Amino acid sequence: SQNIYILGIESSCDDTAASIIYNGRILSNVIANQKIHEAYGGVVPELASRAHQQNIVPVVHQALEKAGITKNELHAIAFTKGPGLMGSLLVGTSFAKSLAYGLNIPLIDVNHMQGHILAHYIDEDGYNKPPFPFLAMTISGGHTQIVKVDHYFDMTVIGETIDDAVGEAFDKSGKILGLGYPAGPEIDKRAALGNPKAFKFTKPKVDGLNFSFSGFKTAVLYFIQREVKANPNFIEENLNDICASIQYTIIGILMDKLKLASKQTGIKNIAIGGGVSANSGIRKALKDGEQKFGWTTYIPKFEFTTDNAAMIAIVGYLKFLEGDFAEQNVVASARLKI
Ligand code: KG4
Ligand code: ZN
Repeated sequence: SQNIYILGIESSCDDTAASIIYNGRILSNVIANQKIHEAYGGVVPELASRAHQQNIVPVVHQALEKAGITKNELHAIAFTKGPGLMGSLLVGTSFAKSLAYGLNIPLIDVNHMQGHILAHYIDEDGYNKPPFPFLAMTISGGHTQIVKVDHYFDMTVIGETIDDAVGEAFDKSGKILGLGYPAGPEIDKRAALGNPKAFKFTKPKVDGLNFSFSGFKTAVLYFIQREVKANPNFIEENLNDICASIQYTIIGILMDKLKLASKQTGIKNIAIGGGVSANSGIRKALKDGEQKFGWTTYIPKFEFTTDNAAMIAIVGYLKFLEGDFAEQNVVASARLKI
């Protein structure tokens, strides 16, 4: 059998990341987070691409160093082609192309959403990989999808958001409550201390397996404005209950669609990915689904659920085995589909 080293590069949003994978195992997984966006309450694309420009060489250098190899030992370079912010994608794409050209090794283009899903195939002691077919729900600040996965590169999006991503529902609700960005983790912590039924928010009515979160955000805004008018201290006095109720509603929306997807397809292997899969409420709801619906659930290590380059490297490895390489004139694609 061959011994293959792949460098993965991820730069689709606000994390500059590089990872080395040796056959299926991760040797290094380096991420430079861009703190600059916190002050703006969201990712500023122009600032993100500049920060990628600063970070990319040191991050790749560190990934090689931690893996204990030199760039001359690499067999291929995998990079995120899309979807994502164009100015961000261009930095990783151009860097990957130049390095592959310089080293005279193959270049492999990776769909970021396939990366989130195939992160489950990273070799990890004690981690069971989902068998095909399975349903993957990718939930983050940028995406909300349910994907039917029949094989590594045979995937069908069967449901997705028609407006905001679920992470935005957490973050924008948090902003209304005066919480910092991103607000998901704090809402999660406070939710554990509050009553999820204290306040009721109606769930959006969306056909089939699609999601909508923009109406939910507006409902939270109007609710808070109304209550604060009556009691200026409403938020401080009820913050844990508000967070618990928001989280309860959002998880209800996700679980309703996931249950429907499982019922429609007959698939009971359920995997999740994306930053929101860190949420303790969604993790618990999935575990409950094992008892209630006979599901087998797959939840990867936290570092492989948020944006990272290990997931790009594993896709690179799987494509390398199939000889599926990119041309040197490949271009980034902000709206790349699965
Ligand atoms: O995957 P990710 O790191 O970046 C992308 O958006 O692609 O996901 C970030 C999102 C943010 O919206 C953040 O608020 C949310 O994941 N998040 C959480 C939790 N941890 C992170 N949302 C709810 N509960 C959490 N514990
Ligand atoms: Zn992502």
